[in-house]
Amino acid sequence: MQDIIISHNLHADLAAVVELQQPDRLFVLVDETTREQCLPLIEKAHFIEGTDAEGRPLARGAAEIITIGATDEAKTLDTLAYVWQELGQRGATRHSMLLNLGGGMVTDLGGFAAATFKRGITFANIPTTLLAMVDASVGGKTGINFRGLKNEIGVFREAEAVIINTDFLRTLDAQNLRSGYAEMLKHGLISSAADAAELLAFDIFDVDYSALADLVARSIKVKERIVAEDPHEHGLRKALNLGHTVGHAFESLALEQQHAVLHGYAVAWGLVCELYLSVTRCGFPAELFHQVEHFVSETYGRFPLDCKLYDRLFEFMTHDKKNEAGRINMTLLAVPGDIRINQVATREDIFEMLDYYRES
Ligand code: GLY
Repeated sequence: MQDIIISHNLHADLAAVVELQQPDRLFVLVDETTREQCLPLIEKAHFIEGTDAEGRPLARGAAEIITIGATDEAKTLDTLAYVWQELGQRGATRHSMLLNLGGGMVTDLGGFAAATFKRGITFANIPTTLLAMVDASVGGKTGINFRGLKNEIGVFREAEAVIINTDFLRTLDAQNLRSGYAEMLKHGLISSAADAAELLAFDIFDVDYSALADLVARSIKVKERIVAEDPHEHGLRKALNLGHTVGHAFESLALEQQHAVLHGYAVAWGLVCELYLSVTRCGFPAELFHQVEHFVSETYGRFPLDCKLYDRLFEFMTHDKKNEAGRINMTLLAVPGDIRINQVATREDIFEMLDYYRES
Protein backbone atom coordinates (compact mmCIF):
# COMPACT_ATOMS: atom_id res chain seq x y z
CA MET A 1 0.00 0.00 0.00
CA GLN A 2 1.26 3.47 -0.83
CA ASP A 3 2.60 5.67 1.92
CA ILE A 4 0.52 8.84 2.19
CA ILE A 5 2.43 11.52 4.04
CA ILE A 6 0.60 14.58 5.31
CA SER A 7 3.65 16.75 5.23
CA HIS A 8 4.46 19.74 7.40
CA ASN A 9 8.05 19.75 6.26
CA LEU A 10 8.27 19.09 2.55
CA HIS A 11 12.06 19.10 2.43
CA ALA A 12 12.53 16.54 5.18
CA ASP A 13 9.71 14.28 3.99
CA LEU A 14 10.90 14.34 0.41
CA ALA A 15 14.47 13.60 1.42
CA ALA A 16 13.24 10.68 3.55
CA VAL A 17 11.18 9.22 0.69
CA VAL A 18 14.13 9.42 -1.69
CA GLU A 19 16.55 8.01 0.88
CA LEU A 20 14.27 5.04 1.47
CA GLN A 21 14.22 4.16 -2.22
CA GLN A 22 17.96 4.74 -2.79
CA PRO A 23 17.52 5.48 -6.51
CA ASP A 24 20.59 5.71 -8.73
CA ARG A 25 19.15 8.77 -10.49
CA LEU A 26 16.31 11.07 -9.65
CA PHE A 27 13.95 12.68 -12.18
CA VAL A 28 11.27 15.29 -11.51
CA LEU A 29 8.32 15.62 -13.88
CA VAL A 30 6.73 19.07 -13.92
CA ASP A 31 4.42 20.97 -16.24
CA GLU A 32 5.06 24.50 -17.47
CA THR A 33 3.11 25.94 -14.53
CA THR A 34 4.49 23.81 -11.71
CA ARG A 35 8.00 24.32 -13.07
CA GLU A 36 7.55 28.04 -12.40
CA GLN A 37 5.41 27.99 -9.28
CA CYS A 38 6.19 24.79 -7.38
CA LEU A 39 9.60 23.51 -8.42
CA PRO A 40 11.40 26.39 -6.64
CA LEU A 41 9.84 25.13 -3.38
CA ILE A 42 11.31 21.67 -3.76
CA GLU A 43 14.58 22.74 -5.31
CA LYS A 44 15.45 23.85 -1.84
CA ALA A 45 14.92 20.27 -0.73
CA HIS A 46 18.11 18.58 0.33
CA PHE A 47 18.19 15.88 -2.27
CA ILE A 48 18.14 18.32 -5.15
CA GLU A 49 20.87 20.41 -3.64
CA GLY A 50 22.86 17.20 -3.41
CA THR A 51 22.74 16.41 0.31
CA ASP A 52 20.56 14.06 2.32
CA ALA A 53 18.52 14.86 5.44
CA GLU A 54 21.65 14.75 7.63
CA GLY A 55 23.52 17.05 5.31
CA ARG A 56 25.68 14.29 3.79
CA PRO A 57 26.41 14.83 0.09
CA LEU A 58 24.37 12.60 -2.20
CA ALA A 59 26.71 10.81 -4.58
CA ARG A 60 23.96 10.65 -7.14
CA GLY A 61 23.91 14.41 -7.68
CA ALA A 62 21.09 16.72 -8.71
CA ALA A 63 17.73 15.68 -10.11
CA GLU A 64 16.91 15.91 -13.81
CA ILE A 65 13.86 18.00 -14.61
CA ILE A 66 11.44 16.92 -17.37
CA THR A 67 8.82 19.49 -18.40
CA ILE A 68 5.55 18.82 -20.21
CA GLY A 69 2.55 20.96 -21.25
CA ALA A 70 0.22 22.12 -18.49
CA THR A 71 -3.29 21.31 -19.71
CA ASP A 72 -5.31 18.13 -20.15
CA GLU A 73 -4.71 18.41 -23.93
CA ALA A 74 -1.08 17.42 -23.18
CA LYS A 75 -2.18 14.12 -21.63
CA THR A 76 -1.41 12.24 -24.82
CA LEU A 77 0.59 9.35 -26.19
CA ASP A 78 3.02 11.88 -27.73
CA THR A 79 3.70 13.45 -24.32
CA LEU A 80 4.10 10.01 -22.78
CA ALA A 81 6.59 9.06 -25.52
CA TYR A 82 8.47 12.31 -24.83
CA VAL A 83 8.79 11.42 -21.12
CA TRP A 84 10.01 7.88 -21.96
CA GLN A 85 12.49 9.40 -24.40
CA GLU A 86 13.82 11.94 -21.90
CA LEU A 87 14.17 9.27 -19.22
CA GLY A 88 16.07 7.05 -21.64
CA GLN A 89 18.30 9.75 -23.12
CA ARG A 90 19.19 11.19 -19.75
CA GLY A 91 20.30 7.85 -18.38
CA ALA A 92 17.39 6.52 -16.31
CA THR A 93 17.76 2.87 -15.33
CA ARG A 94 15.42 0.40 -13.65
CA HIS A 95 16.76 1.74 -10.34
CA SER A 96 15.91 5.37 -11.03
CA MET A 97 12.99 7.21 -9.50
CA LEU A 98 10.47 9.72 -10.85
CA LEU A 99 8.85 12.44 -8.74
CA ASN A 100 5.63 13.77 -10.24
CA LEU A 101 5.14 17.38 -9.16
CA GLY A 102 1.84 18.79 -10.36
CA GLY A 103 -1.87 18.34 -10.76
CA GLY A 104 -3.74 15.24 -11.87
CA MET A 105 -2.43 15.41 -15.42
CA VAL A 106 1.19 15.19 -14.23
CA THR A 107 0.53 12.49 -11.62
CA ASP A 108 -1.58 10.38 -14.04
CA LEU A 109 0.80 10.64 -16.99
CA GLY A 110 3.95 10.52 -14.87
CA GLY A 111 2.65 7.48 -13.00
CA PHE A 112 1.94 5.72 -16.29
CA ALA A 113 5.38 6.67 -17.68
CA ALA A 114 7.07 5.32 -14.55
CA ALA A 115 4.93 2.16 -14.47
CA THR A 116 5.93 1.29 -18.03
CA PHE A 117 9.51 2.56 -18.46
CA LYS A 118 11.81 -0.49 -18.42
CA ARG A 119 8.75 -2.39 -17.07
CA GLY A 120 8.46 -0.06 -14.12
CA ILE A 121 10.54 2.31 -12.02
CA THR A 122 9.55 3.67 -8.63
CA PHE A 123 7.71 6.96 -8.44
CA ALA A 124 6.28 9.33 -5.87
CA ASN A 125 3.58 11.95 -6.29
CA ILE A 126 3.70 15.47 -4.94
CA PRO A 127 0.26 16.82 -5.87
CA THR A 128 0.01 20.60 -6.13
CA THR A 129 -3.73 21.04 -6.72
CA LEU A 130 -6.61 20.17 -4.43
CA LEU A 131 -8.06 17.82 -7.06
CA ALA A 132 -4.81 15.88 -7.27
CA MET A 133 -4.35 15.80 -3.47
CA VAL A 134 -7.73 14.31 -2.65
CA ASP A 135 -8.20 12.17 -5.75
CA ALA A 136 -5.84 11.77 -8.71
CA SER A 137 -2.54 11.22 -6.92
CA VAL A 138 -3.95 8.64 -4.48
CA GLY A 139 -5.07 5.12 -5.33
CA GLY A 140 -2.91 4.00 -8.24
CA LYS A 141 -4.91 5.00 -11.31
CA THR A 142 -2.47 6.16 -13.99
CA GLY A 143 -3.00 6.84 -17.66
CA ILE A 144 -3.49 9.10 -20.65
CA ASN A 145 -6.37 10.25 -22.86
CA PHE A 146 -6.66 8.45 -26.20
CA ARG A 147 -8.80 9.06 -29.30
CA GLY A 148 -10.88 11.69 -27.51
CA LEU A 149 -11.62 9.47 -24.49
CA LYS A 150 -10.38 10.53 -21.09
CA ASN A 151 -8.05 8.14 -19.25
CA GLU A 152 -8.72 5.49 -21.89
CA ILE A 153 -5.26 3.89 -21.67
CA GLY A 154 -3.48 3.25 -18.39
CA VAL A 155 -2.63 0.85 -15.60
CA PHE A 156 -3.19 0.56 -11.89
CA ARG A 157 0.16 1.26 -10.21
CA GLU A 158 0.49 2.91 -6.85
CA ALA A 159 3.15 5.52 -6.15
CA GLU A 160 5.63 4.49 -3.45
CA ALA A 161 4.61 7.63 -1.60
CA VAL A 162 2.24 10.55 -1.96
CA ILE A 163 3.44 13.68 -0.21
CA ILE A 164 0.58 16.03 0.62
CA ASN A 165 1.67 19.56 1.37
CA THR A 166 -1.34 21.82 1.67
CA ASP A 167 0.82 24.97 1.49
CA PHE A 168 0.55 24.59 -2.30
CA LEU A 169 -3.19 25.34 -1.95
CA ARG A 170 -2.55 28.89 -0.78
CA THR A 171 -1.48 29.87 -4.28
CA LEU A 172 -4.17 27.88 -6.10
CA ASP A 173 -6.80 30.01 -7.87
CA ALA A 174 -10.41 29.95 -6.59
CA GLN A 175 -11.76 27.94 -9.55
CA ASN A 176 -9.24 25.13 -9.14
CA LEU A 177 -9.78 25.13 -5.39
CA ARG A 178 -13.53 24.72 -5.89
CA SER A 179 -12.93 22.08 -8.53
CA GLY A 180 -11.02 19.92 -6.04
CA TYR A 181 -13.57 20.63 -3.34
CA ALA A 182 -16.25 18.85 -5.41
CA GLU A 183 -14.31 15.59 -5.00
CA MET A 184 -14.13 16.24 -1.25
CA LEU A 185 -17.89 16.74 -1.15
CA LYS A 186 -18.24 13.43 -2.99
CA HIS A 187 -16.01 11.74 -0.39
CA GLY A 188 -18.12 13.27 2.40
CA LEU A 189 -21.34 11.95 0.85
CA ILE A 190 -20.01 8.42 0.44
CA SER A 191 -18.56 8.54 3.96
CA SER A 192 -21.23 9.73 6.42
CA ALA A 193 -23.96 12.31 7.09
CA ALA A 194 -21.66 14.12 9.57
CA ASP A 195 -18.82 14.40 7.02
CA ALA A 196 -21.22 15.62 4.33
CA ALA A 197 -22.72 18.23 6.69
CA GLU A 198 -19.28 19.51 7.68
CA LEU A 199 -18.25 19.96 4.06
CA LEU A 200 -21.51 21.71 3.18
CA ALA A 201 -20.96 24.15 6.08
CA PHE A 202 -17.37 25.04 5.07
CA ASP A 203 -16.94 28.58 3.71
CA ILE A 204 -15.30 28.00 0.34
CA PHE A 205 -15.54 31.74 -0.48
CA ASP A 206 -13.38 32.76 2.49
CA VAL A 207 -11.07 29.81 3.00
CA ASP A 208 -9.63 28.93 6.38
CA TYR A 209 -6.56 27.05 5.11
CA SER A 210 -5.78 25.28 8.33
CA ALA A 211 -9.37 23.93 8.57
CA LEU A 212 -9.11 22.98 4.89
CA ALA A 213 -5.87 21.05 5.54
CA ASP A 214 -7.68 18.99 8.16
CA LEU A 215 -10.59 18.29 5.80
CA VAL A 216 -8.13 17.29 3.06
CA ALA A 217 -6.43 14.75 5.31
CA ARG A 218 -9.79 13.23 6.24
CA SER A 219 -10.97 13.21 2.63
CA ILE A 220 -7.87 11.27 1.59
CA LYS A 221 -8.58 8.73 4.35
CA VAL A 222 -12.03 8.07 2.83
CA LYS A 223 -10.43 7.32 -0.53
CA GLU A 224 -7.63 5.26 1.02
CA ARG A 225 -10.11 3.07 2.89
CA ILE A 226 -12.12 2.34 -0.25
CA VAL A 227 -9.07 1.72 -2.43
CA ALA A 228 -7.57 -0.62 0.18
CA GLU A 229 -10.74 -2.74 0.03
CA ASP A 230 -11.09 -2.74 -3.75
CA PRO A 231 -7.93 -1.50 -5.47
CA HIS A 232 -8.91 -2.57 -9.00
CA GLU A 233 -12.51 -1.35 -8.94
CA HIS A 234 -14.36 -4.65 -9.07
CA GLY A 235 -17.04 -3.33 -6.70
CA LEU A 236 -16.81 -0.85 -3.83
CA ARG A 237 -14.36 1.49 -5.60
CA LYS A 238 -17.20 2.37 -7.98
CA ALA A 239 -18.45 4.48 -5.04
CA LEU A 240 -15.71 6.95 -5.95
CA ASN A 241 -17.52 7.49 -9.24
CA LEU A 242 -20.54 9.09 -7.58
CA GLY A 243 -21.40 12.13 -9.71
CA HIS A 244 -19.05 11.05 -12.47
CA THR A 245 -21.36 9.23 -14.92
CA VAL A 246 -23.23 12.46 -15.53
CA GLY A 247 -20.25 14.68 -14.66
CA HIS A 248 -18.04 13.13 -17.34
CA ALA A 249 -20.86 13.54 -19.88
CA PHE A 250 -21.15 17.26 -19.02
CA GLU A 251 -17.36 17.57 -19.23
CA SER A 252 -17.14 15.82 -22.61
CA LEU A 253 -20.03 17.83 -24.05
CA ALA A 254 -18.51 21.11 -22.88
CA LEU A 255 -15.19 20.10 -24.46
CA GLU A 256 -16.93 19.22 -27.71
CA GLN A 257 -18.66 22.62 -27.66
CA GLN A 258 -15.26 24.21 -27.11
CA HIS A 259 -15.98 25.73 -23.73
CA ALA A 260 -14.12 23.25 -21.51
CA VAL A 261 -15.14 23.20 -17.86
CA LEU A 262 -13.01 22.18 -14.89
CA HIS A 263 -13.45 18.55 -13.89
CA GLY A 264 -14.74 19.29 -10.39
CA TYR A 265 -17.40 21.68 -11.69
CA ALA A 266 -18.74 18.91 -13.93
CA VAL A 267 -18.60 16.48 -10.98
CA ALA A 268 -20.55 18.93 -8.78
CA TRP A 269 -23.32 19.23 -11.41
CA GLY A 270 -23.17 15.47 -11.87
CA LEU A 271 -23.58 14.99 -8.11
CA VAL A 272 -26.82 16.97 -8.16
CA CYS A 273 -28.19 14.87 -11.03
CA GLU A 274 -27.14 11.55 -9.49
CA LEU A 275 -28.47 12.52 -6.06
CA TYR A 276 -31.80 13.34 -7.73
CA LEU A 277 -31.85 9.72 -8.95
CA SER A 278 -30.74 8.62 -5.47
CA VAL A 279 -33.81 10.38 -4.02
CA THR A 280 -36.27 8.89 -6.52
CA ARG A 281 -34.73 5.41 -6.70
CA CYS A 282 -33.07 4.77 -3.32
CA GLY A 283 -34.89 7.07 -0.89
CA PHE A 284 -31.96 9.47 -0.32
CA PRO A 285 -33.20 12.23 2.08
CA ALA A 286 -34.78 15.03 0.05
CA GLU A 287 -33.73 17.75 2.52
CA LEU A 288 -30.05 16.86 2.26
CA PHE A 289 -30.40 16.63 -1.52
CA HIS A 290 -31.71 20.22 -1.58
CA GLN A 291 -28.80 21.35 0.64
CA VAL A 292 -26.32 19.84 -1.82
CA GLU A 293 -28.21 21.36 -4.75
CA HIS A 294 -28.06 24.79 -3.09
CA PHE A 295 -24.33 24.49 -2.24
CA VAL A 296 -23.53 23.41 -5.79
CA SER A 297 -25.48 26.17 -7.52
CA GLU A 298 -23.97 28.81 -5.18
CA THR A 299 -20.42 27.52 -5.63
CA TYR A 300 -20.34 26.19 -9.18
CA GLY A 301 -23.27 27.84 -10.98
CA ARG A 302 -25.12 25.59 -13.40
CA PHE A 303 -24.42 23.61 -16.54
CA PRO A 304 -26.39 25.34 -19.33
CA LEU A 305 -28.74 22.57 -20.41
CA ASP A 306 -31.12 22.36 -23.33
CA CYS A 307 -33.35 19.36 -24.25
CA LYS A 308 -31.61 19.18 -27.62
CA LEU A 309 -28.45 18.09 -25.77
CA TYR A 310 -30.02 15.10 -23.99
CA ASP A 311 -29.25 12.57 -26.74
CA ARG A 312 -25.61 13.60 -26.94
CA LEU A 313 -25.25 13.50 -23.14
CA PHE A 314 -26.85 10.05 -23.08
CA GLU A 315 -24.40 8.88 -25.75
CA PHE A 316 -21.46 10.09 -23.64
CA MET A 317 -22.86 8.19 -20.65
CA THR A 318 -22.92 4.98 -22.68
CA HIS A 319 -19.07 5.19 -22.85
CA ASP A 320 -18.65 5.20 -19.06
CA LYS A 321 -16.12 2.61 -17.83
CA LYS A 322 -18.56 1.33 -15.16
CA ASN A 323 -21.08 0.16 -17.75
CA GLU A 324 -21.66 -3.53 -18.29
CA ALA A 325 -23.42 -5.34 -21.16
CA GLY A 326 -24.28 -2.03 -22.82
CA ARG A 327 -26.25 -0.78 -19.79
CA ILE A 328 -25.54 2.46 -17.95
CA ASN A 329 -24.41 1.51 -14.46
CA MET A 330 -24.51 4.27 -11.90
CA THR A 331 -23.42 4.65 -8.30
CA LEU A 332 -26.22 6.02 -6.11
CA LEU A 333 -26.75 6.56 -2.37
CA ALA A 334 -29.55 5.53 -0.02
CA VAL A 335 -28.17 7.81 2.70
CA PRO A 336 -24.66 9.28 3.06
CA GLY A 337 -22.36 6.31 3.54
CA ASP A 338 -24.89 3.76 2.23
CA ILE A 339 -23.59 3.19 -1.29
CA ARG A 340 -25.58 1.45 -4.03
CA ILE A 341 -23.30 0.46 -6.90
CA ASN A 342 -24.38 -1.02 -10.27
CA GLN A 343 -27.69 0.82 -10.44
CA VAL A 344 -28.93 0.42 -13.99
CA ALA A 345 -30.33 3.64 -15.45
CA THR A 346 -32.50 3.56 -18.57
CA ARG A 347 -32.76 6.28 -21.21
CA GLU A 348 -36.07 7.33 -19.58
CA ASP A 349 -34.41 7.59 -16.13
CA ILE A 350 -31.62 9.73 -17.57
CA PHE A 351 -33.97 12.03 -19.48
CA GLU A 352 -36.22 12.48 -16.42
CA MET A 353 -33.15 13.37 -14.33
CA LEU A 354 -31.97 15.87 -16.95
CA ASP A 355 -35.48 17.39 -17.05
CA TYR A 356 -35.30 17.90 -13.30
CA TYR A 357 -31.86 19.52 -13.54
CA ARG A 358 -32.91 21.79 -16.43
CA GLU A 359 -36.15 22.90 -14.79
CA SER A 360 -34.94 23.27 -11.19
N1 GLY B 1 -11.13 8.92 -9.20
C1 GLY B 1 -11.81 7.74 -8.83
C2 GLY B 1 -10.90 6.64 -8.42
O1 GLY B 1 -9.73 6.87 -8.20
O2 GLY B 1 -11.32 5.52 -8.35
